[in-house]
Amino acid sequence: MSFWEMYEDLSSNGLKEMVANKMSKIGDYFASQCGNPHGVIGKIMTWSMNRANNVMYKGIVDELKISPKTQILDVGFGNGYLEKLIIQKSRCFITGIDISEDMVNKAAETNRRYIASGNMKFQLGDCCDLSFKDKTFDVVTTMNTIYFWNDTAKGMSEINRVLKDNGIFYNAVISKENLDKFFYTKNGFKKFTKDEYIELGKKAGFRRIRIKKLGNNYGLLIIYMK
Ligand SMILES: C[S@@+](CC[C@H](N)C(=O)[O-])C[C@H]1O[C@@H](n2cnc3c(N)ncnc32)[C@H](O)[C@@H]1O
Repeated sequence: MSFWEMYEDLSSNGLKEMVANKMSKIGDYFASQCGNPHGVIGKIMTWSMNRANNVMYKGIVDELKISPKTQILDVGFGNGYLEKLIIQKSRCFITGIDISEDMVNKAAETNRRYIASGNMKFQLGDCCDLSFKDKTFDVVTTMNTIYFWNDTAKGMSEINRVLKDNGIFYNAVISKENLDKFFYTKNGFKKFTKDEYIELGKKAGFRRIRIKKLGNNYGLLIIYMK
């Protein structure tokens, strides 16, 4: 190999490494924004999720059995898009908790008319340590959040605790196979198989667990019955 060939080989490998390095940093930044959206980028990310995950919002809303008396807790509401769809299906009472203060403000702004009517409230909170009394809610929903909980088992048992007897927890997720296809889910995402989702539910004390496919296997709706 001539000096120049060696030089070219080295510089093209160096470039590849540099690009790989940059992509991995961008991926980690995306993952951290998904797990705790903040600032302008957080708003753009959650806005694009509203579009990309259409099939999941539709799937969870179609499945919900709600009446004007239903008390819902939504965990990790992001920009509050799901709550808007739920209330358009039926009037009910929705409490949202999220660990991102920016998202609390954004969701409150989007849904101000429902806050004014007393149907919604948004607050800071972590599902691994809920401030609500036992058996407060008829329904708990969450979409694309379980990957980010610090203590998944604790989050599941907290949700079980705040649900009334016969209450239902709807957990909408992107399947592990599909999450694995995204470049930004290598770090910062906990990914679970269907069997692991079932196991988590059983350990948290749920009585029955059902899994529905959302879209062409893109997402899953795991329905846990207390
Ligand atoms: C990918 S976004 C999904 C937002 C919304 N559910 C949706 O699908 O449009 C994840 C959201 O979960 C929130 N989150 C992450 N961990 C949480 C936790 N332990 N408790 C409550 N919210 C959490 C994040 O702040 C973020 O708003």
